[in-house]
Amino acid sequence: MKIRAAVLEEFGQPLNVQEVDLAEPADGEVLVRLEACGVCHTDLYTASGADPSGYAPTVLGHEGAGVVEATGPNVTDVQPGDHVVTLFSPQCRECIHCIDPRTNLCLAIRDQQNKGYLPDGTARLSRDGEPIRHFMGTSTFAQYTVMPQIALARIDPEAPLDRACLFACGLSTGLGAAMFTAKVGPGSTCAVFGAGMVGLGAVAGARLQGAERIICVDLSQERLDLATGQGATETLIGGEDTVDKLLEMTDGFGADYTFEATGNVNVMRQAVEAARMGWGLATMCGVAGKGETLDVVPRLLITGRRVAGSSFGGVTGRDQVPQLVNRYMAGDIDVDAFLSHRITLDEVNKGFDLMHHQDGIRSVIDFT
Ligand code: CU
Ligand code: ZN
Repeated sequence: MKIRAAVLEEFGQPLNVQEVDLAEPADGEVLVRLEACGVCHTDLYTASGADPSGYAPTVLGHEGAGVVEATGPNVTDVQPGDHVVTLFSPQCRECIHCIDPRTNLCLAIRDQQNKGYLPDGTARLSRDGEPIRHFMGTSTFAQYTVMPQIALARIDPEAPLDRACLFACGLSTGLGAAMFTAKVGPGSTCAVFGAGMVGLGAVAGARLQGAERIICVDLSQERLDLATGQGATETLIGGEDTVDKLLEMTDGFGADYTFEATGNVNVMRQAVEAARMGWGLATMCGVAGKGETLDVVPRLLITGRRVAGSSFGGVTGRDQVPQLVNRYMAGDIDVDAFLSHRITLDEVNKGFDLMHHQDGIRSVIDFT
């Protein structure tokens, strides 16, 4: 079928919204009609050419939500009409990682997905007979996409899809970091570095876990105000002296849990240094640039601090994304505050511009 999609032709160039071909879903695959898709930093990062593992041409987009239109052979877990959130982090429920509760990093389709192909090593997207690769296994800057059923989370059909799409990446990453990676304890003190989509999600997750104090650090007062809306009890404008200030605010000890959600390695270092002696856990959510390293004084670790990494917030996509959406539907998470701009697919480059200028938290493409 012919669909409209935003193609990354060349790194550093605007996306080209055009008509491309999408083949029928093959074994275990599903045709999804997108209704909404968030524009995430990872899309911009790949489009810029900064990601060394990036490839082109490809259809970008990975924060999608839509409706199952058709299913290929051997699809048992979803059916036409189901509402789904796309998962760049799939869950096969069978591989050695999926059966182990310690990780959400499914191994089933990882190699092909990293190369931009569906699990059988081919692409469903093409143009004039030439294949176009599937970005992150999702390619949701498009009217339709074909994805494996293990990469689709079936959600409450009552959930508005323009909000639900945020659970496909940024929001779940932040919520999950607090809820599933760090497992924030009730009554604890948390410090969250960065008040973008992921950091604000971590603030909300810490609140849901019953944290007593949630200190959010960012460079923008406007974003800090949003953090307050998500449950931050104190806010700080970030700077060189952030660690000193945090220690001062916590009787010299630091926070029980810290979260880094900027991708800046200097901020990561601050998150480690602001974690409490004895048991402080610093969780890294941000993606650092190629070749960058995290500088940590080992004594900080010997004296009881720990550092954890978190991918997609440790969320097992098919099991836990629907649960998080349910908490939103129950009124536990204020998702509306994150939806700053609504754009059309043809305006996708404007979504990148808005992100570049740090205007708002999320632009969401509306396909309806
Ligand atoms: Cu993302
Ligand atoms: Zn798996």
